[in-house]
Amino acid sequence: MTDATDGGADPTDDPLLVRAREAFADAYVPYSEYPVGAAVRTTDGSVFVGCNVENANYSNSLHAEEVAIGEAVKNGHDSFERVAVASAARDGVTPCGMCRQTLAEFCAGDTEVVCDEGDDVASYTLGELLPNTISLETLEDAEAAREGDD
Ligand code: THU
Ligand code: ZN
Repeated sequence: MTDATDGGADPTDDPLLVRAREAFADAYVPYSEYPVGAAVRTTDGSVFVGCNVENANYSNSLHAEEVAIGEAVKNGHDSFERVAVASAARDGVTPCGMCRQTLAEFCAGDTEVVCDEGDDVASYTLGELLPNTISLETLEDAEAAREGDD
């Protein structure tokens, strides 16, 4: 993880992070009152955003990253190069474990994930956040091994 400290442009002005920050304004969070926004940039430069959408049964709640990825995939994009996450609390939000796996379905391990910390920005690679992810390749390898057993 790297923290931007001094010198150069203000890291909190990062355009993708600004999009994530704008996105949490649409969050539906009557239960947690913790609005989250996410923005994903595709390899062709398009940006899709999402916010969390909660539910009275709690478990049906959608996370901001899920909604952003779903929006992108719905629009024909499945290759991403950068991710940003922000919360209204500006408290150092990071993608939860479930969302790390959702991102890993579509993002390489070296994809940068920037997280709002209020007056600073934390930057990780997805591989740092979720090493040893399960993937399509994992399942294909397992299938090949099963077929080899025949
Ligand atoms: N939340 C997200 O939207 N993304 C994450 O990865 C972290 C958690 C939401 C879920 C819930 O609506 C609220 O934040 C509190 O957990
Ligand atoms: Zn999540």
